[in-house]
Amino acid sequence: MKPRCAAAAAAARPGLLLPGLLLLGGSVLLQTCAMDVEMKDASNVTCLYAKWMMNLSITYESEANLFKTTTFPLPDPLSYDGSSCGNDTYGPVLAIKFGDGHSWAIHFMKTNTYQGRIFITYNTNDTELFPDAKRKGLITISANYPIRPVKLNTRFVCNNVETIEAASVKQDFWNVTLEAFPEDGFLSNKETLCDKDTPSTPAIATVATAPDTTSAATTHSSAATTHSSAAATDSSAAATDSSTAAVTTPPSAFVQTVEKPGTGYYMVKNGSTACLLANVALQLNISQKEPLVYNINPNTTVATGSCGKATSVLELIDGKNRLTFLFAVKTVNSEKFYLKEVNITVSASANETLSAANRSLSYWEASLGSAYMCKSEETIAVSPTYKINVFNLKIQPFEVEDNEFSAAQECLMDDDSILIPIVVGAALLGLICIILCAYAIGGRKSDPGYQTL
Ligand SMILES: *[C@@H]1O[C@H](CO)[C@@H](O)[C@H](O)[C@H]1NC(C)=O
Ligand SMILES: *[C@@H]1O[C@H](CO)[C@@H](O)[C@H](O)[C@H]1NC(C)=O
Ligand SMILES: *[C@@H]1O[C@H](CO)[C@@H](O)[C@H](O)[C@H]1NC(C)=O
Ligand SMILES: *[C@@H]1O[C@H](CO)[C@@H](O)[C@H](O)[C@H]1NC(C)=O
Ligand SMILES: *[C@@H]1O[C@H](CO)[C@@H](O)[C@H](O)[C@H]1NC(C)=O
Ligand SMILES: *[C@@H]1O[C@H](CO)[C@@H](O)[C@H](O)[C@H]1NC(C)=O
Ligand SMILES: *[C@@H]1O[C@H](CO)[C@@H](O)[C@H](O)[C@H]1NC(C)=O
Ligand SMILES: *[C@@H]1O[C@H](CO)[C@@H](O)[C@H](O)[C@H]1NC(C)=O
Ligand SMILES: *[C@@H]1O[C@H](CO)[C@@H](O)[C@H](O)[C@H]1NC(C)=O
Ligand SMILES: *[C@@H]1O[C@H](CO)[C@@H](O)[C@H](O)[C@H]1NC(C)=O
Ligand SMILES: *[C@@H]1O[C@H](CO)[C@@H](O)[C@H](O)[C@H]1NC(C)=O
Repeated sequence: MKPRCAAAAAAARPGLLLPGLLLLGGSVLLQTCAMDVEMKDASNVTCLYAKWMMNLSITYESEANLFKTTTFPLPDPLSYDGSSCGNDTYGPVLAIKFGDGHSWAIHFMKTNTYQGRIFITYNTNDTELFPDAKRKGLITISANYPIRPVKLNTRFVCNNVETIEAASVKQDFWNVTLEAFPEDGFLSNKETLCDKDTPSTPAIATVATAPDTTSAATTHSSAATTHSSAAATDSSAAATDSSTAAVTTPPSAFVQTVEKPGTGYYMVKNGSTACLLANVALQLNISQKEPLVYNINPNTTVATGSCGKATSVLELIDGKNRLTFLFAVKTVNSEKFYLKEVNITVSASANETLSAANRSLSYWEASLGSAYMCKSEETIAVSPTYKINVFNLKIQPFEVEDNEFSAAQECLMDDDSILIPIVVGAALLGLICIILCAYAIGGRKSDPGYQTL
């Protein structure tokens, strides 16, 4: 089947559309290759705008053991079964079913950015697209799109051709305008451009526009080998899972947060009274594969934990991200508490969880029965690559009375009361020294001078 991007008029069949899923203008010309949808939720608020052009290239092994590539645009008829605006937990899903058992879907996820994950399932039983496929059945491949997460409340724009490759599937996208989770359902007028559209790299586009079938087939063959060997272990339709595992996903980079985190007020209760209080702004700085700076949003964070005589735990849960702080009482001079353990768990993407813990920390030390306070920024090094930047801290993990903080002991960095006398003292000492020295030198020099006169 030869790919074509002609503007084929195809009236959208209302019966195939989900309630709340609109093709712009109700029913519209469906341009082959083109996606142009606006998805609305039950209360008529738009949750996804998607407009783009797309080609798909799939490499498969033929009966003659050759790798062949089939390229096709999104063909019609289409069905949007499985599309939905999602709910508080799951983001919008745009799903398309076409041809003989093929499907294409993008699931959007939100943190302080948004990004989609594409799942393509193709059926090599389809003799029109895969006339001589050696193995018959369903294969699923997934990849992230856009390549990098997009800042919330901006629309993603990419007019140049961008290619997403994952195992046996190559997808070209161009003329893209996309926004998931638009604020109040309105398409933002702020744009996030893809790398290829940013003025510094305009030349790359021309390289990617002319895909050469033969070279595409060769570059794909190694990836295709992996997937077909996976399929060989289970030649039935159940090959889906093993080939999904072999997917090469583009690194999920996070947009760097530069703004300061908001301060949250957290409380852990023992029965009906507070036993741990915390007032703090937290920012994670993880520099593993890709640097990730993530602000804990107090508006979406829930505090739980437990209180004891020897240890207390504060657990902050922000979506799938989790921060656990364990406080201990010093057993030697047992009048002080300190932060002993921290465990960070962050879900970078749906199937990727980053985690680090340190059980031998020593931060935030103060007397039992008091709170610890530090207005200055402080960094807790949980591991060489996992750090927590702490702002505006006031914490009391033990002996909280009347749901209120006790008197606080301040960190040294905050303590101007010690610093000022030292600085003033040092300055005074210096001044006295200068005066005395000046006297001594001046006196010695001037004495002989006066004598000669
Ligand atoms: C997509 O396929 C069409 C039809 O063959 C072709 O003209 C176009 O160049 C392809 N576009 C990209 C970006 O590969
Ligand atoms: C949704 O909005 C459209 C126009 O924007 C309107 O025609 C339709 O009646 C609305 N539906 C509901 C359920 O509010
Ligand atoms: C959200 O939707 C998913 C599937 O679409 C469903 O499993 C889940 O229960 C829903 N959650 C809520 C809170 O409605
Ligand atoms: C593909 O075809 C084989 C036999 O021709 C059949 O057993 C299998 O169920 C088919 N799979 C799908 C997904 O259509
Ligand atoms: C992509 O957008 C440009 C500029 O808006 C337009 O000139 C071009 O025709 C579009 N390409 C396709 C294939 O629609
Ligand atoms: C995050 O950590 C890296 C490496 O330790 C450091 O270079 C960077 O400045 C830190 N960023 C923030 C916002 O703390
Ligand atoms: C939390 O909510 C408050 C009030 O609704 C708002 O002013 C603040 O910007 C929100 N903070 C974050 C980090 O979203
Ligand atoms: C929690 O409450 C119980 C009963 O009110 C009390 O016996 C216990 O000492 C309390 N624990 C802490 C850590 O305050
Ligand atoms: C995550 O992995 C599970 C099985 O390991 C799979 O069922 C699920 O679809 C995957 N989800 C994503 C978003 O990759
Ligand atoms: C950190 O927390 C995660 C999730 O709660 C858990 O799987 C992991 O074992 C913990 N790590 C340590 C060292 O406690
Ligand atoms: C835990 O923190 C301590 C003190 O900051 C540090 O010396 C130690 O190397 C850390 N352990 C790990 C596993 O990173």
